[in-house]
Order: sequence, then structure tokens, then C-alpha cells
Amino acid sequence: MPSRQDSQAGNTKQRIRNVLENRQMSQSIADAAIAAAPEYVKNQKLKQWVGEIAALCEPERVVWCDGSQEEYDRLCAEMVDAGMLIKLNPEKRKNSYLACSDPSDVARVEDRTYICSANKDDAGPTNNWEDPAKMRKTLNELFKGCMHGRTMYVIPFSMGPLGSPIAHIGVEISDSPYVVTNMRTMTRMGKAVYNVLCTDGEFVPCVHTVGAPLGHGEKDSAWPCNPTTKYIVHYPETREIWSYGSGYGGNALLGKKCFALRIASNMARDEGWLAEHMLILGVESPTGEKTYVAAAFPSACGKTNFAMLIPPKSFDGWKISTVGDDIAWIKPRKEADGTTRFYAINPEAGFFGVAPGTSEKTNYNALATLKENIIFTNVALTDDGDVWWEGMTKEAPAHLIDWQGKDWTPEIAKETGRKAAHPISRFTAPASQCPSIDPAWEDPAGVPISAFIFGGRRATTVPLVYQAFNWNYGVYMAATLGSETTAAAFGAQGVVRRDPFAMLPFCGYHMGDYFNHWLKMGHTVDQAPGIFCVNWFRMNEKGEFMWPGFGENMRVLKWVVDRVRGRVAATENALGWMPQYEDIDWTGSDVTKEEFDALVRIDAEAWKTELAGHKEWFDKLQDRLPKQFMLKRELFELALSV
Ligand code: OXD
Ligand code: MN
Repeated sequence: MPSRQDSQAGNTKQRIRNVLENRQMSQSIADAAIAAAPEYVKNQKLKQWVGEIAALCEPERVVWCDGSQEEYDRLCAEMVDAGMLIKLNPEKRKNSYLACSDPSDVARVEDRTYICSANKDDAGPTNNWEDPAKMRKTLNELFKGCMHGRTMYVIPFSMGPLGSPIAHIGVEISDSPYVVTNMRTMTRMGKAVYNVLCTDGEFVPCVHTVGAPLGHGEKDSAWPCNPTTKYIVHYPETREIWSYGSGYGGNALLGKKCFALRIASNMARDEGWLAEHMLILGVESPTGEKTYVAAAFPSACGKTNFAMLIPPKSFDGWKISTVGDDIAWIKPRKEADGTTRFYAINPEAGFFGVAPGTSEKTNYNALATLKENIIFTNVALTDDGDVWWEGMTKEAPAHLIDWQGKDWTPEIAKETGRKAAHPISRFTAPASQCPSIDPAWEDPAGVPISAFIFGGRRATTVPLVYQAFNWNYGVYMAATLGSETTAAAFGAQGVVRRDPFAMLPFCGYHMGDYFNHWLKMGHTVDQAPGIFCVNWFRMNEKGEFMWPGFGENMRVLKWVVDRVRGRVAATENALGWMPQYEDIDWTGSDVTKEEFDALVRIDAEAWKTELAGHKEWFDKLQDRLPKQFMLKRELFELALSV
């Protein structure tokens, strides 16, 4: 019989053998991943990293994406075969597909989103935080072998026009072909990125898995994801993103909210620029004068509609053009005449827009963008192989297959309240297909920004439009931006959620530091853009919207442009500068002076409550809040009481 010492020695030897074998296996997986790289991939750091991630995730194979049409078509065909995509009728929607996700995977998961900065205070009270070492351990365990039976795709992408001084490169590793195809539309993705990366270029590493390893011979599901475990993790100091368990939108397309906002906001703070949750649009006058504006609105405030606005008929010769619908990267740049201005790019190449409510009437340009080359997610399928969603047409089709694959009729909807399309179902569309796309949308230099607009959904209190006294007041206004979370019925105020700069779920560091950064950035340009607040959603006592919105917003936008160009009057009041009725162009409108006055009325009592809300919000940020904000709040209070 072997002694206890003998058997302990035997166990140790076995363990060492296992470790060595595992190491060898990891090395050979890494070697195979690196060997699969095309010869034009020259960046050693990238190759080594791909090898390491392959060794961790243990995929069946590794594909380095080239971003070609051929690759896109092949992946779509594979997903159709696997039941993950439905090919739409090409006579209705050429080269377009429908994906329906697992009902557990239909939205961004804010409660599973983490900013793992080394110091908890740096993430601030508005972000979930976990100790980075602890999080790495958790994720290492989850990612070990997470791609069994799957293909690991290496997706190189540029956020912004290739080679633009405002753009940055990322590489996403993902086991989802849906992610590859969506990233191709949403970013500049593929071979050309490797040229920019060259031998030693920097990139933001992004690792994504659906978190659903396949056993040998196991059949895949139509929407693989992990129904119980999801993590969307950012390490701001090392500029890394790790996403586990979801295949949907912002959780999985890591160039968008994760990189272009959460990580980029950290880069922007350190490097002296701005990464913002803003659309960018151009306003062209009949004389051809062009003014660019960037605007921030919280989710569900009509951001895409505003980005693609069509002016009322009476605005003959005025044109709105779209540079971006969701994100803006803004850097100070010295002009030839020596003055410094903010220039902005849209870091994305596509729109990941919410479908319900989009119609020819509400957003003609969006609908025109959706004619071909679209991936729809969670909308309904018509009997003739097209798509439909609530609000697309006045009358719903007589029969549909809803986003969960069930029969749907208007009668069923009436009885059960079941929607045909998920309320935040999406389209992924190339921005280049938008009829209102701005000619300069791909200009590597960006477009010069003359005004920032901030808007929320407020039934009461906030006037239709006002201009902040100056940059610092504007930063205060944006920092206290609020939007109502519950439908405000009968003029009653819903619950106001503070959504500073519309960045609450997207700022990758302490909000107080972010406000200070904005204050500082005002000094980096010779003439800071004007800052404006708008509210399209004010209601009367009957609970009716007082402002028609949509194309009519052009009237307000024109006043904004005229203000920054110094050619229209405004009246000073407690909040800032506001138009009188006669300062707005009402040609072709039936809004009366009385109605306008109600839209811009400042209710001192409501503002006292509002300012108390500001204090509550500021108290959360404590010692990192700009000192001047408390003072400004008091000044507002004083101004309202005289
Ligand atoms: C979005 C959002 O998904 O802002 O774009 O919520
Ligand atoms: Mn958004």
C-alpha cells in the first residue's frame, strides 16, 4: 500500500501535469488564433491580445473580420439558416433582416453596468462600482470557456471617420455574428482599420460574449444569451470593456454607449475634449449660411426626430441636415485665423433607432432611411415579409407575427393589450442612406459647433426655450436637466429623474468631476457656443401638449441660430434670455401670442420646487460638485423672488 506521503507526492505531480497540460492547451489555442490573422494584420499587441482572449474563451474557431459585403452577406445567410434572422421580402426591403431577441434580453441593463475604477469615489454615486481586482476575478471565471462550440470574431472598428484626428480605434471580440453585422453598419468596421492601427497603433479592447457555451453537438438557440447573468463592465484607467451575457444593442455593440460614451468620457476628461450623448444637426438658411448645433435629450424625447427635422412649408429655403442622431465627440481646434472653436464628429456610422412611433408623418427621413440594408430587431413581421410597428401606419395590418413569434391581430391587441413590436424595438441603418445626411458628416475635421441645446420631457415648470446667461450658467442648467419618467396625465407633473447632460447612464466617472470638466472646457475656445434649454412637452390643465413639436421645432431652432449669430432680440428674466412672441418666426403657424406666453411662463412656485430638487440632486454629489453651483442655485432663488 502506498504511504500517505507517496500519495500526496502523486497528487502534486498530477496537479503539475494538469497545469502544464492546460498551459500547453491555452498556448496552442492562442497560437491558432494568431495564426488565423490575415497577413495585413501587423499590430503585435493586437495579435497577442486576441491570442490571450482566445485562450481564455476557448472558441471552436477564430475569424478575423474584414468588413466586406461578402462577409456581411455570408454571416446573414448563416444566421438565417440558424433561425436567428428572418430574411425580409427583397421586393419590400432589399437586403434586410429581422432578428427577434430572447424576451429576457431586450434592453440595456443599467443595473448590471459597472464602472470599475481603482478608486470607488472616482466612479461617483451615479454609477455601479466594483473593485477592479474582484471584478476581474469574477469575469475571468465567467469567461473561462464561455465560447465553447462558437466562433470568436475579431471586429476592428473606428469610431469616427478613419484617420480623423477626433476618431479613435477599438477592437471588439465577440462570439455573436449578429454583433459583427450590426457593428459593420454602426461603425467603420474592417480591413482599413488594421491599416490605421499599423504596427503599434492604440486601440480600446472590447470583449463580448453572449455567455452561452455550447456542449458538443448541442443545438444553438435562435437568440443565445445568458438569461440570468449579465455584466457590462468598464475599466476606465486601462480603457477596457468586458460584456457578458447579453446579445442586445448597447450591451453588445460595444462601440456605442460603452466605448463612445463611458470610456470616451474618461479619455475626453484626461485629454481635454468632450464625449457627449448628443445629436448633431446643421441648419442651412436660404442664403446658404450653415450653423451646426449639438443637442442632448434623455431617451424617449424625440432625439432622432429632431436630428432629422423637416422644417414647416413656410420655412421656404431652410434645410436641416443630419450629422448624427445619438453621440458627438467634440474637440477644440485652432482655425486658420488663430481662433479656437469646438469641432464635432459623429463617431458612429449608423443609426440604432427606436422603431415604434416612427412614421412618414413623425419622421419622414428616418422611414426613407429604412428602405434597404437594415437589420430590424424585435419589430413585427407582416404576412408579405415586411416589418411593422406601432405607430408606423394609422391602421395596423389585419395579421402579423409579433416580436415573440406569436400571431397578432388588432382584435387580439384590443383584448390583451399585447404590442406587435417591442416598445423599444430597433432598426440598425446606415447613416449614409438618410436623405437629410449632411454633406460634411464624414469630414475628418468635424463640423464647427455654434450652440448646445438641452431638453427633457417636462409637463410643467420648464419653458419652451431659454438661453443661459453664459457658459457657466449653461453648464448648471445642463447639470440639472430632468425628464419625467412616468406619463404625466392631466397636466400633473410626473416623477422627475435628473439626467444631467442626458448622460446619467453614460458618464464613465464621477458626475461632479464631469461638471467641472465642462466648466473648464468653456475656457479652451475663444467663443464658447451658446447654451439653450428647450421643452417640447409642456401640458395644459387638460393634459394636452401645448406645443405641436416635430417640424414646428424649427421655429425655436431658428431663434437659437439667430441668437448665436447675434441678430435677434431676447428678454432677460430669472432663468436667462427668452424670446418674446415677436422674436419667433410664426409664418404659417396658428400658435397665438396667448398660447406662446403660456408656453414660456415662469411659475415662481414651481421653480422653487424645481430648485429644491436641484439641491437634493447636488447633495448626492457632495464634495465634487463645482462650488459655484450652490451659489448659482441661490442666485436663481433670489431672482425668482423679486
Ligand atoms: C439609446 C438611449 O439607446 O439613449 O440610444 O437610451
Ligand atoms: Mn442614446
